Amino acid sequence: MTTDPKDNQRGFARETNAVGGGYDAHAHGGSVKPPVFMTSTFVYPSAQAAKDVHEVFFGTRPARPGEAQPYIYSRLGHPNLSILEARLALLDGAEAAACCNSGMSTISTVLQTLLQPGDVVLHSRPLYGGTDLLINTHLHRFGVKAVAIGDAVDPASVRHAAEEAMRLGPVGVVMIESPANPTSAIADIALAVEVAKEISARQDRKAVVVVDNTFLGPFQQNPIALGADLCITSLTKYAGGHSDLLAGGVSGSAELVGRVKQLRTFLGSHLDPYTCWLVTRSLETMHIRTERAGSNARAIAEFLRGHPKVKSILYVGFLEEGTKAAEVFARQCRGAGSTFSFRIKGGEAEAFRMLDRLRVIRMAVSLGGTETLICHSASTTHYAVPRERREAGGIDDGTLRMSVGIEHIDDLIADLAQALDAI
Ligand SMILES: Cc1ncc(COP(=O)(O)O)c(C=O)c1O
Repeated sequence: MTTDPKDNQRGFARETNAVGGGYDAHAHGGSVKPPVFMTSTFVYPSAQAAKDVHEVFFGTRPARPGEAQPYIYSRLGHPNLSILEARLALLDGAEAAACCNSGMSTISTVLQTLLQPGDVVLHSRPLYGGTDLLINTHLHRFGVKAVAIGDAVDPASVRHAAEEAMRLGPVGVVMIESPANPTSAIADIALAVEVAKEISARQDRKAVVVVDNTFLGPFQQNPIALGADLCITSLTKYAGGHSDLLAGGVSGSAELVGRVKQLRTFLGSHLDPYTCWLVTRSLETMHIRTERAGSNARAIAEFLRGHPKVKSILYVGFLEEGTKAAEVFARQCRGAGSTFSFRIKGGEAEAFRMLDRLRVIRMAVSLGGTETLICHSASTTHYAVPRERREAGGIDDGTLRMSVGIEHIDDLIADLAQALDAI
């Protein structure tokens, strides 16, 4: 009944797996699309079968060869979760995946699985505001410390931060977000993996490399292929793609993902059947949506690049040739995505004047939807991050983040042009 992520779809391209991967119509009455299993619990066929399934689920004994692992209760797993997880694992090129009820619940379930009191998180900078606050406030209360890497494409800078982290305690996690929210700072994933190996060799446990792949997603960047242990995606963004749901996923080895699923059971952070179904459906069109959004984003970035009211633009498609970031981007990514920031000439007042003039582009946080969104990072997504840490991460009062959608490009550029006139 559960869907095997290592099914025969593995030989196909991502675009093909996105449409049919992880779902066996013949196991579901021939239904071309997955049914939604709106149930909280599952009937045991017999008292002995009930005991058997609990023995295996809680690891009292391994499953016998060929022994089916039926569902028990939807918080522990359900058919729509299995289908979505199998599809996501295929797209991420991983052995297994686990889905949670938001990107943040995925990140918090993963970090709480991997970290112990006294551990250190070595991380790229900036991190999404929620992740930053999770590590520096909630996890800090449990004795977890954090060290930021100055420049995560520079081997000397990464190793310098690694030394500082090791002085503070065992490094449980190397957390990489690339491109970073909101500055699109690039981190070298392969370098992080190499340094994590060096750290692991000097302490009595493995430093696990976790990459937040939300900004690009599986069609444009594959952290697992670059050696990362776990790849996290906020499925709320490009995977869901329509700004109408919250979800998150993590992919990696069956062993690590299995540990995440165990804690997810206790935290209750699993994804519900209907949202799993919606994300499974949206994954089918993700590559087409992100391609169109990507070409719109490039056109907008080009418009902004020469604009007299714009100070700088943080778009990975414009990384200067010959720089380390450009070299890493070329090696690591297959696209520039469609979320980027730019800095206007001026601060909060000028930014607010411009934002209040927009008519097509909507002012809201989040990214990856069909519609174009814009927000002032310092007063929204990164409001609760202390100014000093915010500015160290490159977010000043003139920084605006845009998530470009799939509307007609002429309308988007005309809207930006008239709003920039307000500055
Ligand atoms: C890079 C990144 N990671 C994680 C998250 C959190 O995802 P969610 O809003 O689904 O909890 C976000 C949200 O904006 C994000 O931008």
